[in-house]
This record gives sequence, structure tokens and C-alpha cells, in this order.
Amino acid sequence: MTKSIIDEAISSLYNNLSPRETICIADLGCSSGPNTLLPVSQLIRTIDKERKNKDYESLKFHVFLNDLPNNDFNTIFRFLPTFHESLRKQNMGEDGLFDRPNCFVRGVDGSFYTRLFPSNSLHFVHSSYGLHWLSQVPDGIENNKGNVYLTSTSPTSVYKVYYEQYERDFVTFLKYRLKDLMKNGCMVLTMLGRKNEDRFSQGCSYEWELLATTLKLLIAQLYFNLFSS
Ligand SMILES: C[S@@+](CC[C@H](N)C(=O)[O-])C[C@H]1O[C@@H](n2cnc3c(N)ncnc32)[C@H](O)[C@@H]1O
Repeated sequence: MTKSIIDEAISSLYNNLSPRETICIADLGCSSGPNTLLPVSQLIRTIDKERKNKDYESLKFHVFLNDLPNNDFNTIFRFLPTFHESLRKQNMGEDGLFDRPNCFVRGVDGSFYTRLFPSNSLHFVHSSYGLHWLSQVPDGIENNKGNVYLTSTSPTSVYKVYYEQYERDFVTFLKYRLKDLMKNGCMVLTMLGRKNEDRFSQGCSYEWELLATTLKLLIAQLYFNLFSS
């Protein structure tokens, strides 16, 4: 669903780039696994197609993959030879001089709610399904009636503190990205949303209610085992 938006954004950025030599891309909240490099591959493929169509010179890709420090970056690095091989096979990012495509991938650990990059160092920021994570559990949720998140039984005061935490976090995120991005840089953020005012439409709270019920059962069972033995 987001492919066309990302393609359009990166193509427009690339066409307006001057000089068109290097492009610095960050994927924030990249996770680790076989899909981690997919967004980056897509971005490189789109730029390369554009480059070949317009007969522009080849360029260097600096790719920064960010996640929290406990993310399994080693797994990502293990996928890199296959990633480079696939770029080479598709003849992408090559400059003919080196035995490795002109794509330099680095891991960047740390929360995207903090400073991660030097000022004006990125052309393009991508983040998919990461901004649902808050920087912390908000204060003031003690009266959440045994829930682990917002559900239909949560009091209004709990909605309010979650909302305020999200607002604070998102503003912090934007503040830092404003520093990271170069002039005319661009950002595509994909996150869950809903189309109407009803917080519980589209089953938004169902899984959290199930999770809370399961946790409560688990704790009750632990207590039972503890005190009956
Ligand atoms: C659901 S995964 C999304 C993975 C991938 N971007 C995708 O679209 O499939 C969310 C990722 O965001 C990371 N994340 C959550 N909070 C973060 C933060 N404050 N800073 C950096 N990464 C964060 C998590 O560790 C997790 O790997």
C-alpha cells in the first residue's frame, strides 16, 4: 500500500538532488530478519530505475539501519552479502570499479526519540510500523483497571496520558529528524491509524484485551501454585 508513496517521494528527491552523487538514507525501527533490507532494496531499485531512464551518473548509497540497542544487528549484517549480491545481479549501484556495489550499509543503535545522526546528514528517512512504540509507559495509568493498554474499559484519564505521551514523543521525533535531514530532505512514515473517531473500530483494542486477560490468568495460576504447594 505504501510502495507508490515511497517511490514517488524518493524519485522526486533524487531528481532534485544536486550534486547527484551520494544519497543518505535511514530506516528507523528497522528490526532484524529477512525483511529488514526490503525497504532499502526498494528505494535503491527505484532510484536506479530513474537514473537509468534519465541516463544520470551512478551514485553512492549510504544506508543507516536504526533500531534499539537490543535489536539483533548481527542478523542484519549476516544478510548483507546476499543483499549486495542481489544488487550486483540486478546491476544496481555498480560503478564498474569495485567488486562490491556502491552501497554502504551501517547499523545505528539508539532510540529514534533521541539524537542519532549529525546535523544535515540525511536525504531520506523511512520508518515503518515503529512509531507506535512510545518512549516510555506514561505516568498516571495506575487506575487502568488491570488493562495493559487502552481498551474499552480504560478511564478517560488513561486515554489522556497515553495521548499526551504520544504527542510528546512524536514532537521529539520530528524535532530530531528536522536536525538530521538536509535541506529539501524527505521523510516517509508509515504507522497504524483509523479512519474514524471511534478508538475501538477495526478491532484496535481486541488483542490488548486478550493479552491482559491472559496475563491475569497467568498471574492467578502462579499465585495458586505458589500458595497451594
Ligand atoms: C514492528 S517492528 C517494524 C519493523 C519494520 N520497520 C517493518 O516495517 O516491518 C518495530 C520496530 O521498531 C523498533 N523500535 C521501537 N521503538 C523504537 C525506538 N524508540 N527507536 C528505535 N527503534 C524502535 C522495535 O525495536 C522494532 O524492531
